[in-house]
Amino acid sequence: MIKFETKNAFLKEDVKDYQEQVNTMHDALMNKTGKGNDFLGWVDWCNNYDKEEFARMKEAASYIRENADVFLVCGIGGSYLGARAAIEMINGLYADKKPEIIFCGNTFSSTYTKQVLDYIKDKDVCLNVISKSGTTTETALAFRLFKQALEEKYGKDEAKKRITATTDGNKGTLYELAKKEGYDMYVIPDDIGGRFSVITPVGLLPIAVAGIDIDELMNGVSAAYNDFATPDLDKNPAYAYAVTRRILENQGKSAEMFVTYDLQTTMLAEWWKQLFGESEGKNGCGLLPTSATFSTDLHSLGQFVQDGKKVLFETLVLFENPTEDVVFPEDAENLDNMNYLAGKNLDWVNKMAMQGTLEAHVEEGGVPNLEITVKDMSAHSFGYLVYFFFRACAMTVYLIDQNPFDQPGVEVYKKNMFKLLGKN
Ligand code: PA5
Repeated sequence: MIKFETKNAFLKEDVKDYQEQVNTMHDALMNKTGKGNDFLGWVDWCNNYDKEEFARMKEAASYIRENADVFLVCGIGGSYLGARAAIEMINGLYADKKPEIIFCGNTFSSTYTKQVLDYIKDKDVCLNVISKSGTTTETALAFRLFKQALEEKYGKDEAKKRITATTDGNKGTLYELAKKEGYDMYVIPDDIGGRFSVITPVGLLPIAVAGIDIDELMNGVSAAYNDFATPDLDKNPAYAYAVTRRILENQGKSAEMFVTYDLQTTMLAEWWKQLFGESEGKNGCGLLPTSATFSTDLHSLGQFVQDGKKVLFETLVLFENPTEDVVFPEDAENLDNMNYLAGKNLDWVNKMAMQGTLEAHVEEGGVPNLEITVKDMSAHSFGYLVYFFFRACAMTVYLIDQNPFDQPGVEVYKKNMFKLLGKN
């Protein structure tokens, strides 16, 4: 399902030299004995998820699709990025789908928040608030504003039917609030951290509301789970990728650029950056995860990649088949001199741009390129791909002896902010 290639990576070590270490880490992961082992619920979640809750989620999604022009998804970080990445990648950016999905609770921006409040005034709205801790300030602040807007518009009883809460299964501020208000509730499992939660109700409810087949998505996760049962580096591309990142770091690289050629995968890159940034960037360790969407960013960051300081390598995620395609038309007058492309598919042009860029960056720029090839942008492929990155992330962070599943660093800004905001 996924092909991983290193032919353009300039590796100075053999990936296979890491086999023994990988075997040990694989056992730690699968037996749930490694660092952060109380957050390994995602590993076999495809076998263990609550089927009754899954069915209830699909019913809730149908209700929301029938009753909302706008669906607000209120969450931040791991409680937001996965759903947005999936919806944009699978549906595209301008799919003619109802309801329109708007993300909130991921910013303190007053302009953004006020404009969304104004935008929904004359529309029918449903809202899903998502927070594992139930106390994240960006989300809690937006939720109060949008909850009040819904209650003013519909009255408390009708608003209650339009609000769903995804949070801890038995504790926390949001849990207590949702119980008291009588909202439909979905559980974020204790042993799955935010950035691994797109395959739980956190991601799946909004994804289902977007009209995406979540059974297929979970089938993709299961397929990846089965494919990555072996630690053999010749057979497990997730682990081969995990090791290759470490080899390139040993060769002096300090940043990894996630590259795609489709604008609808820009949020996938944002999701990936959170996954690797929060999992790996601790105790002075880790590669800086950065991203670019080509060819768009070839007209900006491309200059640095080609000619700038040699700090990075690229990880190209190539989707073999586009969701849509366009045949470029002939023009009788050819005033724009573009007839040389007449009859060609736009996706072919995109792939040629990719080929040319790869040659430029690798051969002339000396920038190592890793290649991950995925069949298409379907729900199945999304499920497969996120699980590929989960396993790669856990393995690559275990290889530098860090805990991939905590994020102590994100607490520091909160402490300062709370002091300034006057919170006890
Ligand atoms: O990966 C993580 O754990 C974080 O990014 C969280 O998802 C994010 O901080 C939101 O937390 P919560 O779901 O508790 O509101």
